[in-house]
Amino acid sequence: MKKLEKYIDHTLLKPTAGIADIQKLCEEAKEHGFYAVCVNSRFVPVAREALEGSDVKIASVIGFPLGAMSTEAKVFETENACQNGAAEIDMVLEYGLLKEGHKQAVFDDVKAVVDAAAKYGSIVKVILETGALTDGEIVDACKLSEEAGAAFVKTSTGFGAGGATVHAVELMRASVGPNVQVKASGGIRDRETALAMIKAGADRIGASAGIEICKAAEGEDSPFEEGPKNILVLMGSPKMSGNTAALADAFCRGAEAAGHKVHVFNVANMNIHPCTDCRYCSEHGGACVYQDDMQQILSHLYTDDVIVFATPVYFYGFTAQLKTALDRMICVRTSAMTVKGSILLSPYGDTDTTVPVPMVDMYKAFTGYIGWENLGVVTAENCMDPGDIQGHKALVKAERLGRTL
Ligand SMILES: Cc1cc2nc3c(=O)[nH]c(=O)nc-3n(C[C@H](O)[C@H](O)[C@H](O)COP(=O)(O)O)c2cc1C
Repeated sequence: MKKLEKYIDHTLLKPTAGIADIQKLCEEAKEHGFYAVCVNSRFVPVAREALEGSDVKIASVIGFPLGAMSTEAKVFETENACQNGAAEIDMVLEYGLLKEGHKQAVFDDVKAVVDAAAKYGSIVKVILETGALTDGEIVDACKLSEEAGAAFVKTSTGFGAGGATVHAVELMRASVGPNVQVKASGGIRDRETALAMIKAGADRIGASAGIEICKAAEGEDSPFEEGPKNILVLMGSPKMSGNTAALADAFCRGAEAAGHKVHVFNVANMNIHPCTDCRYCSEHGGACVYQDDMQQILSHLYTDDVIVFATPVYFYGFTAQLKTALDRMICVRTSAMTVKGSILLSPYGDTDTTVPVPMVDMYKAFTGYIGWENLGVVTAENCMDPGDIQGHKALVKAERLGRTL
């Protein structure tokens, strides 16, 4: 997972801020290694000078904070900010017009800014001001921002109705495709809130409290300081190109994009003898009486960091093939094991979302017994036939889970 600092747009948009304040903001961003500074367009030249020679990017807000400026004014401000060094443009959506249903006008406004920024190689984040919108309006705003070419959708200005919420971030994440990122901003003042936003799907955090946010509590394990992880994926479906494979592929794509290494085993194709409770392992330091393909999987429990179970629901549980492999983990020497966390990915045929509950309970009980932390569960309903999962929101969730591990 990338460092928490690299999620932060270190932000100062207060109308009382002056040149010295922006210079200080930039010094802090350099010192702490933040991704970007976010400033009013007036201060882009100041930031450029202060950040000279560093890799901290400059984001400029546009049409801020009301979004109600004319499109021409926004385009001019965008071009001006880009010419002065802004690599990212955080524009405010014309949300008054959106609420009245003028979707085409809102789309045109975003598109004009995206096109203007693109001339300079800059990307656009669209601030929706989610606190002022209904869920339906948030979904509409996400979709039209994506269609207009936005790189990000962003929750709030911090000057309007309410700030970022976990609900809004989750909804935005689910409403855009994997190529559009989500920025949470407005009212994020502590590490706990920032982590909750990232867990909900945020790729970037806009905050003036970045320094506080990135300060790990003493003795706290930070998931952000670790390097690439090794991930063991146990594919439990007998179908190699079915829904489970698609879900596991999405997860692996995300994990690999984040720099992790995945090791996939198709347990249905492996020779794994069921556990016979012979107790050989308890008398032989964990060695199993069956020297079969399970040894390959077991060895990864002592080298990898995370284990992923990918299985369709078969009568409220795992497939027999996967369950057979799980039972063979009775011989694992838990104190020597490096795997610390687990994930469950599971498609199923029914539309009733309570169907996987017994399986998820069993997964949690089993992993809790072994001592693995549950890092996430992604289920996909209404996937009876191979290919039914295409376009399912669970694919986005699985990809995201892999990427944010
Ligand atoms: C033996 C068996 C039992 C199943 N039991 C259930 C079930 O209890 N509930 C459900 O919703 N789907 C059930 N299904 C459907 C599968 O979960 C669904 O087809 C899934 O997408 C298959 O994944 P795959 O394409 O990766 O094999 C069952 C399928 C089989 C073959």
